[in-house]
Amino acid sequence: MTPHNASDILEGFCRMAPVIPVLVIEDAARARPLAEALRDGGLTVLEVTLRTPVALEAIRRIADVPGVIVGAGTLLAAEDVREAVAVGARFGVSPGATPALLDACETAGLPLLPGAATASEVMALRARGYRVLKFFPAGSSGGAAALRALAGPFPDMRFCPTGGIGPSNAAEYLALDTVLCVGGSWVAPPAMVAAGDWADITGLARQAARLR
Ligand code: 3PG
Repeated sequence: MTPHNASDILEGFCRMAPVIPVLVIEDAARARPLAEALRDGGLTVLEVTLRTPVALEAIRRIADVPGVIVGAGTLLAAEDVREAVAVGARFGVSPGATPALLDACETAGLPLLPGAATASEVMALRARGYRVLKFFPAGSSGGAAALRALAGPFPDMRFCPTGGIGPSNAAEYLALDTVLCVGGSWVAPPAMVAAGDWADITGLARQAARLR
């Protein structure tokens, strides 16, 4: 898969809803009902971070939930890419980018949303052909103001900012022409997931889906 094709696919996914939930799943048995609850609230593209022992199993269980597109987040190395593809991830997300990780995604045919936080990082990914990036960590990298400034030299780039975004500041990011959607964990609070409060999670998702 070329970087250009990967960015086209990611642009489509990012336009499906204003928020991509960033999920840290501790119990694989909760993966499917969590995905269904978020989908029922209108958030249909989900990122499961590879940060827990059950993350790959969680992706496997979500992969066949009707109406949901699941991706693997926190991709750091080529091995993560192979494992994510094997369990049915439709896209990948990484906090930054290395040539080895980009090579692995392009070879495996996994569309990647690679992370960047500085002008030089944006330039490196743009030179390779990526046009849709994760801006991470958004809040501590200067927030919406920094992203607005990056739009000056890079009007052709599009972003999904993630990190430190919640209901109180998501709109600032979503107001930017260069922002396709935002990523965030606030729609799946760990306590609600642990308690199986699916109706409340659907409510949070519904509010998030209306942010734009
Ligand atoms: C992450 O990769 O952890 C995401 O950026 C989620 O950040 P958040 O928990 O601040 O929404």
